[in-house]
Amino acid sequence: MESEKIIFFDTTLRDGEQSPGASMNKAEKLRLAVQLEKLGVDVLEAGFPAASQGDFEAVQQIANRLKNTEVAALARANKNDINRAWDAIKHAVKPRIHTFIATSDIHMKYKLNMSRDEVLSATIEAVRHAKSLTQSVEFSAEDGSRSEWDFLCKVFETAIAAGATTVNLPDTVGYAIPGEFAEMVRYVIKHTPNINQAILSVHCHNDLGLATANTIAAIHAGARQAEVTINGIGERAGNTSLEEVVMTVHTRSNYLPYTCQVKTEHLYPTSRLVSMITGIMVQPNKAIVGANAFAHEAGIHQDGMLKNPMTYEIMRPETIGLAKNQLVLGKHSGRHALREHLKKIGYDLSSEELNVVFEKFKNLADKKKHVMDEDLEAIVTEGVLRTTDIFELDYLHVSAGTTVMPMASVQLTINKRPVKGADYGNGPIDACFNAISKLTNTESELLRFSISALTGGTDAQGEVTVRLKENGLIALGRGSDPDIITASARAFINGLNRLEYLKANPVETPQEI
Ligand code: KIV
Ligand code: ZN
Repeated sequence: MESEKIIFFDTTLRDGEQSPGASMNKAEKLRLAVQLEKLGVDVLEAGFPAASQGDFEAVQQIANRLKNTEVAALARANKNDINRAWDAIKHAVKPRIHTFIATSDIHMKYKLNMSRDEVLSATIEAVRHAKSLTQSVEFSAEDGSRSEWDFLCKVFETAIAAGATTVNLPDTVGYAIPGEFAEMVRYVIKHTPNINQAILSVHCHNDLGLATANTIAAIHAGARQAEVTINGIGERAGNTSLEEVVMTVHTRSNYLPYTCQVKTEHLYPTSRLVSMITGIMVQPNKAIVGANAFAHEAGIHQDGMLKNPMTYEIMRPETIGLAKNQLVLGKHSGRHALREHLKKIGYDLSSEELNVVFEKFKNLADKKKHVMDEDLEAIVTEGVLRTTDIFELDYLHVSAGTTVMPMASVQLTINKRPVKGADYGNGPIDACFNAISKLTNTESELLRFSISALTGGTDAQGEVTVRLKENGLIALGRGSDPDIITASARAFINGLNRLEYLKANPVETPQEI
């Protein structure tokens, strides 16, 4: 018998973007969407077009660009949202409208102020309307895992009868437990009479650290679509991590005999790209893509590994695209070698973009003997993807030490005009941030600052991430440079640019999500 397929529905660009501070601009979203298509996800949820004009345009751009992947747009269960979603995706090769309404008693009573019958009617109307626009319609029962089981089956039956081709059971608040969630999935399959006319999907959140376990339990119980995000990013504790579910299915095929079309060798590069773009770094001990995921420190492990890697290694690093020797280019490498290597790691740049990257690469190669993939990713992200920057760093001079008051002089380009200024601080980074805040006329609060080395070696680039808050808006910033003060300034400026983007693209935070 042919094994059944698990459909991977990636929502990094929608639910993932709801991670505090993880907003991405349009160019970044498009770049990520292209990478997700390369990774081989079946469905890509590109955004929530009714939330803002910026979201609408980003979804539209992605829908017009992707060639093979189904592009989904989220909509609340009302005509306006559904029309807006359809307008954004109508030119996609494979469009999908994803509409949802809450079905738990607590959400219906306190949030929606609707009765069960009213929710059933809204479901019928929304799904019928979506179906009048496109063939592929997904219906989600928000807070499904806390809904009364028979009512949930009734809602799914109604949605399928109205035309839904996928029904999704979300664990919206991350409350489910694997055994119980699996039982619920079996119950839904058994008690929804027309369930075989639709795909049953699950969508888990990680509040109790159980999102992957719940998703795997649900697949084992009969769900055939998994809604996931890269690196598990998402609201609060995040969503189910794509790479964890894919590699569990891949590694434990004896227990989970399913196929999936995700190309595992693109998992690690995609994870890096998401970190680079969002500024949300992966914790070192994160399963599959964390820096320590394949590091074997203990002597006894190393001994076993040398004799046979399978003694302690259940997956090979190459399977997820973690190349062993990432040594790439040096200062004598030419433009052609750089272009070819960038293509190999997933960046097919235009000649104009290559010029920008080549110049930055040469500068770095003067300071650092070996330029690694991580360095190139940082250069491309900072040099090419950040197309909408308002503030740019031209130069920075800092004086600091044991006997002087730390001072920073900075020149920025703001909206194409150079401006200069200086300020003091209680350390060189503080001085730098003060000077930049003055020049940009911003008053952000620094909520978090973290620094790590991008690669090994004492000449490694420092990679800084900052979390900034201004007028209730939160943005993350990321920057890298062999000089950690410059890396900090770049991260701070990137955070300020993201705040500017958020100010210019206000997002209506819909009650229902
Ligand atoms: O968590 C949730 O319930 C959602 C729905 C919109 C699917 O994100
Ligand atoms: Zn969600």
